[in-house]
Amino acid sequence: MTAGSMKLEINTAQLSSEIETLARFSDAPAPAVTRVVFSQQDLRAREYVKDLCAAAGLAIREDPVGNTFARWSGSEPDLPAVATGSHIDAIPNAGAYDGTVGVLGGLEAIRALQLTGFRPRRSIELIVFSAEEPTRFGIGCFASRMMAGLLKGAFVRDRDGKHLDDWRAEAGFRGGTAGVRLPAGYYHAFIELHIEQGPLLERAGIPIGVVTAIAAPATLRITIEGEGGHAGAVLMPDRRDAFCAAAEIALAVERAARSTRALDTVGTVGICDVFPGAVNSIPSRVRLEVDARDIDLARRDRVLEGIREAGQEIADRRSVSVNIETVNADEPATCDPDVVEVLCRAAAAHDLRFQRMVSRAYHDSLFMSRIAPTAMLFIPCRGGVSHRPDEYASPDAIAAGALVLAEALADLSAR
Ligand code: GLV
Ligand code: MN
Ligand code: MN
Repeated sequence: MTAGSMKLEINTAQLSSEIETLARFSDAPAPAVTRVVFSQQDLRAREYVKDLCAAAGLAIREDPVGNTFARWSGSEPDLPAVATGSHIDAIPNAGAYDGTVGVLGGLEAIRALQLTGFRPRRSIELIVFSAEEPTRFGIGCFASRMMAGLLKGAFVRDRDGKHLDDWRAEAGFRGGTAGVRLPAGYYHAFIELHIEQGPLLERAGIPIGVVTAIAAPATLRITIEGEGGHAGAVLMPDRRDAFCAAAEIALAVERAARSTRALDTVGTVGICDVFPGAVNSIPSRVRLEVDARDIDLARRDRVLEGIREAGQEIADRRSVSVNIETVNADEPATCDPDVVEVLCRAAAAHDLRFQRMVSRAYHDSLFMSRIAPTAMLFIPCRGGVSHRPDEYASPDAIAAGALVLAEALADLSAR
């Protein structure tokens, strides 16, 4: 049977109900979802997804950091497999669709292929990346970075200094982290299905986005140290308030991102920890975390430089110290032209309009692209909203994505 002769059908109701069930594994009240890697809710959610994979007859393997691989064995199992997948961790106060659509939609694509009687030549593997979000370990995609050999486990700690090894041991994942790295050529191709997290598809009324490039993310950790003291007693001219310096730095981040005049440049201060954090105490230390991105690497790096220069100027003028640490400064990814073409053909085969687009959000695909021909499929989400409890993608939109994914997996796995 060829991909073209199959009657592929997505079980929309089942897929929606699984997404709803997964959303219940949360540390925040519905509709918000908070599911931080290695939390109890994350571990319960993993069990739920693994049970679904086992029920579909997939063989499950977990690596030492909890990346989960569920394989449908092909007729030539020694060939590099075709992979799909995404993440199920969710930032604090997030929604139900970021990542989960690519995991459960990927599983449904496999089940839909199974029901047609199709037998892949190459194995098809669903990957649930251990964590895409930076919430626990301060760096996004730590597990796919390790798969691509770009990060060593020894460097991964949470914000309180607790080591990845302690977290993963408590979560039941053992073995040396050197074993996480996958050799180049391990996968024949990788496709990630994801909600767009932006408004373009919805505005254009187009059901499928085929991603051709992923923007370059960077994270800076900025520590500002001034002098604390009594909020009533220390006179204003004598102050070296770390928070006031931090506030100026936050505005400098905004200015640096706007200064490029390019819509593709963005800068955000998403974390601001103030010490000691008492209303009647002058802040002596502040930690900011800055996220800056652009599809153009040189332009993104000029923004980082602008932030550094502003930090130095503010430090000198306010007599505080400003220390800027680069947590990550990644390159953008270009998706594989052949996989992009497969996705375009798959959408056309089902009479679904599609547009090529870039991803401004990062994804595990950014790192999978370093070791496998990779592309992404986007589906519209309401208002382009993401990383919020009101994030929403309709069952039909998700089903369309899963259908195109199934078609593309069939095509790639038959080659
Ligand atoms: C991923 O969640 C991102 O922040 O782009
Ligand atoms: Mn996210
Ligand atoms: Mn995501």
